[in-house]
Amino acid sequence: MSVRNLANMLCLDDFEEAARRHLPKPLFGYIAGASETNASLRHNREAFDAYAFVPRVLRDVSSRSTGTELFGETFEAPFGIAPMGISALMAYRGDIVLAEAAKQAGIPMIMSGSSLIRMEDVAAVAPRTWFQAYLPGEPDRIDALIDRVAAAGFRTLVLTVDTAALANRENNIRAGFSTPLRPGLSLAWQGISHPRWTVGTFLRTIARHGIPHFENSYATRGAPIISSNVMRDFGRKDHLSWVHLERIRQRWQGNLIVKGIMHPDDAAMAADAGANGVIISNHGGRQLDGTAAPLHVLQQVRERLQGRVPILIDGGFRRGSDVLKALALGADFVFVGRPFLYAAAVGGLAGVVRAVELLKSELHRNMALLGETEIESLGTTHITRK
Ligand SMILES: Cc1cc2nc3c(=O)[nH]c(=O)nc-3n(C[C@H](O)[C@H](O)[C@H](O)COP(=O)(O)O)c2cc1C
Repeated sequence: MSVRNLANMLCLDDFEEAARRHLPKPLFGYIAGASETNASLRHNREAFDAYAFVPRVLRDVSSRSTGTELFGETFEAPFGIAPMGISALMAYRGDIVLAEAAKQAGIPMIMSGSSLIRMEDVAAVAPRTWFQAYLPGEPDRIDALIDRVAAAGFRTLVLTVDTAALANRENNIRAGFSTPLRPGLSLAWQGISHPRWTVGTFLRTIARHGIPHFENSYATRGAPIISSNVMRDFGRKDHLSWVHLERIRQRWQGNLIVKGIMHPDDAAMAADAGANGVIISNHGGRQLDGTAAPLHVLQQVRERLQGRVPILIDGGFRRGSDVLKALALGADFVFVGRPFLYAAAVGGLAGVVRAVELLKSELHRNMALLGETEIESLGTTHITRK
C-alpha cells in the first residue's frame, strides 16, 4: 500500500476493509471469523457499548502521556499486539513485520507459537518480543520447548490455556480455509484474483524461504502447512492441567503470563501457581462460542486478584476509547489482534506503524477529552453503565 493510501486509513477498522479486498477470501475469512455462531465475537464488540464516559473538564491536561509501566518496563502506550498464528501467510514475513513495528513504536508484541518463522529469527530483529506457546501434550516436549524459548533470548512467555480442544471453526471451512492448506482450483482462482498478495506475499515467501512450516510448536521444526501431518502439530491438549503450569513455572525464569483466563477463580489459581500476569481473553471469540466478553468479567477478576498480578485483556479493542474503558474498569494493559494483522497484510511495516499511531493518537486525544493526564489515574469514576 502506498504512503498516500496509508494516509487514507483513518481508524483501525479501515484496515479491515482494505484487507478484505487484498487477501484471498479463505485467508481473510480465517482472520475475521470466529467459532460457530460468532456470538462471542459480537459480545466482544457490544461490551464496550454497555459503558459510557463521564468526562471531567478544565483540568489542564496539556502534559498528558500514554506511557505505561508493565513488568518493570515502560511502554509508549498501554496496548500491544496479540499473538496471531500463521501471520507470515497473511503478510510477507508477518511475524517480523509485527515485531519490528512494535519495537519502533515502543509497545509489546507477542509472537504466536503457531507461527511460520523461526522464533530465533524474530528475536534477532526485536529481542524484546514476547513468545506465546501452546503447550505440547507431553512433559519432555514441554521442557524442550521452554528451553528453546529461553535460549532464543525471550524474557516473557505467554501460555495460552483456552484450547483444551480445537474449536469448531465451521466458518473457516465455509470460507474455504483448511489446515493443512489444500491446493486446488478454487485456491488457484483466489490467487489469480488477488495478484498483489500472490506475488508480494505468497510467491515471494516460497521463492526466498521455501514452503512455510510450523516452526515453533515444539523444540524442533514442525510440518509444512500443506502436509497432511500438520494436524499432528496441534496434538492433544485435553489432559493439560494446573500441574503442567506449575512445572513450567519451575523451569521458566522469565515473566510467565497465562492467556485465556475468564473465571476469577482461574485468575487466582494462575497467581497461586506463580504466574506474573493474566490475560483475560476469549481468544477473539475463536474458542468456546457464547463465552462472555472479557470486558464483562474484568471487574470480578480484579476484585479477586486484589492487585496480586497485573491484569491484561484482549478481545474486540478497536478504538482508543475502548482501551480507556478497560483501563477505567481496572485493566493494566490491553492487547489488540486482528487490526494489526490486517495492517501488516495491506501495508507491511509502514501499515502496522500507522495502525499503532492511529490507536495511540485516539487514546492521547481522548485522555484530554476525559480530563486525565496519566494512564494510572484512570478509574471507575470516569465511566458509568449505560
Ligand atoms: C488470525 C488469528 C490467529 C490467532 N492465533 C492465536 C495464537 O496462535 N495464539 C493465541 O494465543 N491466540 C491467537 N489468536 C487470538 C488473539 O491472540 C487474541 O486473543 C484475539 O485475536 C483478540 O481479539 P481481537 O482480534 O478482536 O483484537 C488469534 C487470533 C486471530 C484473529
